[in-house]
Amino acid sequence: MKIAIGSDHVAVELKSVISAYLEELGHEVVDYGPQTAEPTDYPKYGKLVAEAVAGKQADAGILICGTGVGISISANKVKGIRAVVCSEPYSAQLSKQHNNTNILAFGARVVGSELAKMIVKAWLDAEFEGERHADRIAMIEGT
Ligand code: RB5
Repeated sequence: MKIAIGSDHVAVELKSVISAYLEELGHEVVDYGPQTAEPTDYPKYGKLVAEAVAGKQADAGILICGTGVGISISANKVKGIRAVVCSEPYSAQLSKQHNNTNILAFGARVVGSELAKMIVKAWLDAEFEGERHADRIAMIEGT
């Protein structure tokens, strides 16, 4: 898969670790920044990654800030985006199976790199189950 990744200044280091992990798993990673730990604003990167996913320049997105909260809220403002913030693998898996999330977020101040990898793996391995869940997503989209 082609995976868009972005963060804020707090999570630049974890972003590099997760990007390398995604490549190890055989995915193509497009890094939307930032590239340094110079203070910046998470909404910028949430929007960039969300637009890449909504515009189909990427198959999925991963966003990381201090908590994963601000950057996921920002991503969810883009039409067609269902971003989830997770700090454990179970919710990540279910968010794909039932909610067909297209962006995964987590917090660099909340999870360590090994737990973050487990969350990413659970999310990437899970598949949307469709059926009644598709009807509910249509209700969210208002269609
Ligand atoms: C930055 O200090 C922090 O607010 C940000 O990384 C994130 O946690 C926001 O939700």
